[in-house]
Amino acid sequence: MTQLPGLLDTDAIRKDFPLLDRTVHDGKKVVYLDNAATSQKPNQVLDALNDYYARHNANVHRGVHVLAEEATALYEGARDKVAAFVNAPSRDEVIFTKNASESLNLVANMLGWADEPYRVDDRTEIVITEMEHHSNIVPWQLLAQRTGAKLKWFGLTDDGRLDLSNIDEVITERTKVVSFVLVSNILGTVNPVETIVRRAQEVGALVVVDASQAAPHMAVDVQALQADFVAFTGHKMCGPTGIGVLWGRQELLEDLPPFLGGGEMIETVSMHSSTYAPAPHKFEAGTPPIAQAVGLGAAVDYLSAIGMDRIAAHEHAITEYAVRRLQEVPELRIIGPSTAEDRGAAISFTLGDIHPHDVGQVLDEQGIAVRVGHHCARPVCLRYGIPATTRASFYLYSTPAEVDALVEGLEHVRNFFG
Ligand code: ALA
Repeated sequence: MTQLPGLLDTDAIRKDFPLLDRTVHDGKKVVYLDNAATSQKPNQVLDALNDYYARHNANVHRGVHVLAEEATALYEGARDKVAAFVNAPSRDEVIFTKNASESLNLVANMLGWADEPYRVDDRTEIVITEMEHHSNIVPWQLLAQRTGAKLKWFGLTDDGRLDLSNIDEVITERTKVVSFVLVSNILGTVNPVETIVRRAQEVGALVVVDASQAAPHMAVDVQALQADFVAFTGHKMCGPTGIGVLWGRQELLEDLPPFLGGGEMIETVSMHSSTYAPAPHKFEAGTPPIAQAVGLGAAVDYLSAIGMDRIAAHEHAITEYAVRRLQEVPELRIIGPSTAEDRGAAISFTLGDIHPHDVGQVLDEQGIAVRVGHHCARPVCLRYGIPATTRASFYLYSTPAEVDALVEGLEHVRNFFG
């Protein structure tokens, strides 16, 4: 068995994840390499969900009975855990949403409806990058269309990095907000936060960080990032689907207007007007994803007990090995950085002129689950002149043997298509 420095005890970790024991296609052990799309869930999270529904289920914040108190304590306890996980200065800066897309849409809408000095209008500019997930492109396109603001972006270098050579022309005195991904879901690139934040701060622009592919894999410290907003999602970090997070700086959350109106987010309501609850409740209209937040809290406990630095080291070792082994496959072209330096564990590639959908299908027949397509980052495919990629993405339970299985699987794909 291949041994690499920094690996976690995956034999022990994999026992926590029942799905990883599954077989598919007549007894083939599943090789799950689609972690950038969603992670598998450990028993600790499944048990927390089950326990919540079996023993504590009630609506939060509004009941006087004991179950409502227990549900509220569990829901708000999850907020404490998430706040500690990202080193938020205050638990009130953690807003629960449905997913990272909703978190990013929430910021874009807050800024669209905001008063000065935050208001985005036709005298201002919004800056994103060409490697964003559609969730960090479309909300800004909508905001630009609705307000007349100009949308600008950083392009990409041939090796899958941000081209920041024109940073002073892209981020200018007119820039109101700069929103970018910390780790690309398609290229795997880890972006140079400090350089971008420094320039944004020089011109007084707000900084939004999409940490969807970072929070599951490395320690994310919102204070160290010096961003104004950070978005991520639960289901990619061992939590359930249906729960996302938006962290925002407290003074901004106090000043910015709500986006969704409804129950839970108000202070008083009359037929003429309403006043709003303080953050985070101002931004959590309606019954929130209670069980999902509890599940995310359990996921945060699980990841923290292992240690995010150890998880990052494990994934770095696996990524280094995978990048090296994949480049041994003839005609394989990595789309993104070709070394493990400043790189996450999602590796996209093309294989000669075999269409990624065919690659994915033949891999699936061997029990190997990868994602194929544009990965909701179509501008990246356009930039590199390809219709789609095959993407293998790793997590804390991934093993060198799974990398080997992928490489063997790709040899089989090549033989299959002659
Ligand atoms: N954003 C997820 C992915 O990259 C779904 O696969």
